[in-house]
Amino acid sequence: MLEAVGLTKCYASIPAVQEVSFSLQPHHVLGCLGPNGSGKSTTVKMLIGLLDPTHGQVLFNGEDIRHNLVAYRKRLGYVPEEPNLYPYLTGREYLEMVGTFRDMPAEQLLPRIDALLELFALYSHRHSAIASYSKGMRQRILLIAALMDNPEILIFDEPLSGLDVTSALVVKNLIKLLGQQGRAIFYCSHVLEVVEQVCSHLLILRKGIVIAHDTTTAIQKNIEHVSLERTFMHLVEDVDAEKITGEIVAAMSAA
Ligand SMILES: Nc1ncnc2c1ncn2[C@@H]1O[C@H](COP(=O)(O)OP(=O)(O)O)[C@@H](O)[C@H]1O
Ligand SMILES: [Mg+2]
Repeated sequence: MLEAVGLTKCYASIPAVQEVSFSLQPHHVLGCLGPNGSGKSTTVKMLIGLLDPTHGQVLFNGEDIRHNLVAYRKRLGYVPEEPNLYPYLTGREYLEMVGTFRDMPAEQLLPRIDALLELFALYSHRHSAIASYSKGMRQRILLIAALMDNPEILIFDEPLSGLDVTSALVVKNLIKLLGQQGRAIFYCSHVLEVVEQVCSHLLILRKGIVIAHDTTTAIQKNIEHVSLERTFMHLVEDVDAEKITGEIVAAMSAA
């Protein structure tokens, strides 16, 4: 359905993502896992056609997404990492604007927005300016914006950051369910625990390079009796986290 072929992005000749290839199929929740700076958001931006790759391409049903970006984006829901929204619009106005840009039928738009606002516990705030919203509320508006046109492909870049515990649980379950229903989902996170629970497949990035790509189960089995957290640390980190935490505690009380 969606295929990344040798995606490479250089910023001022420094590679942020190198030769990243994978395919995303319906029913798959592909977790893109890696520490900060490993190239997750850069990969996502190429995947949605926001950044042009330095090399490589993104294919949707075999065709380069740049050939018809408008039609491709119509099939796509995207939740960005940063909840930047127009502060002077109300939550409902923002969603109406998104729905209009997406060419959603007018009779469908408001009932769907209101139902989703209700489900994401934002209905009573629908007429307040986004400027007054907390980070979690903005994040929920972005989730609604990504879901409301019922897309086939969903791309989430750290969707749980800033969410309260209940909303985070809802979103995790939602992603699992949407995958089971046949959507293709790309889920970026640096939080192992969530990825392990939610994703059917994993793509692990380190310094812009894919260091593991398989089903979650296969990666977990890769190193027996060791949790994915340890596998992940083993694969991506040069540092010894336990040693560093010990050193931080020691430094806190050092003279
Ligand atoms: N616009 C940019 N200009 C220059 N360097 C960038 C830019 N965006 C990201 N980078 C660099 O690219 C690397 C990957 O960043 P990013 O894709 O945001 O990683 P992640 O989402 O995994 O934290 C980092 O080293 C980051 O500093
Ligand atoms: Mg990022």
